[in-house]
Amino acid sequence: MQFEVLTLFPEIFSGYLTQSLLHKAIQKGLVSVRLHNLRDWAEGRHQQVDDRPYGGGPGMVLMVEPVIKAVEAVQALSVPIGAETEGRAVLPPAEVILLTPSGERLNQRMVEELAVLPRMLLLCGRYEGFDQRVMDLLRPREVSIGDYVLNGGEVAAMVLIDSLVRMVPGVLGDEQSSIEDSFSRGNRMLEYPQYSRPREFRGLSVPEVLLGGNHSEIARWRQEQSLERTRERRRDLLDSERLASD
Ligand code: ADE
Repeated sequence: MQFEVLTLFPEIFSGYLTQSLLHKAIQKGLVSVRLHNLRDWAEGRHQQVDDRPYGGGPGMVLMVEPVIKAVEAVQALSVPIGAETEGRAVLPPAEVILLTPSGERLNQRMVEELAVLPRMLLLCGRYEGFDQRVMDLLRPREVSIGDYVLNGGEVAAMVLIDSLVRMVPGVLGDEQSSIEDSFSRGNRMLEYPQYSRPREFRGLSVPEVLLGGNHSEIARWRQEQSLERTRERRRDLLDSERLASD
């Protein structure tokens, strides 16, 4: 799974890309993330990428020209990361995804749909967003990570990458599985509570059933806990499940 990220702030990604699960996935060659600085396609002495909106109003708009030029240049790249010494390999065109609060809301169903794509180009906005002609020309998939406004698309792009890499075979260890996650296909319930050592802490004990080793009893208890939690916290998930099976 290859990500091309177009951003004005590539440095924001560095900590995230060099840690933990994603770092291992990159090292194993299962995932690659290539950062592109939008400013590299800006014109003029000031390398301007944003301008005031026609018609007035607050903030600045990301200009159409550098964005389109950058996307065309990135789409034309034909060598995947790490393959520079192995000759040229043809890359499939990347699906263009634009992170914006006005996009379609990300959920696990969308994650599963996107996870089949071999290459994605993530456009991170800043300021008051993109010139509308960026959307008109590129027809990107517009994705929002929730009904709140972030300072830019970078954090949203990291959220998207994080949720997608979990779906790549081999990224999670054998002992973990994205299939058992809350919200994964066919699982519309929240996780049951988990406990580890010690058996008691400040008067709070691990539920007896988890200590007995009776696997079918444990499975039943977990199922009940999941259902109870979902009913209490996310009734809408159970309702949508019922609707889906009607
Ligand atoms: N950029 C700013 N806010 C965002 C959001 N909620 N989702 C995706 N991109 C964004």
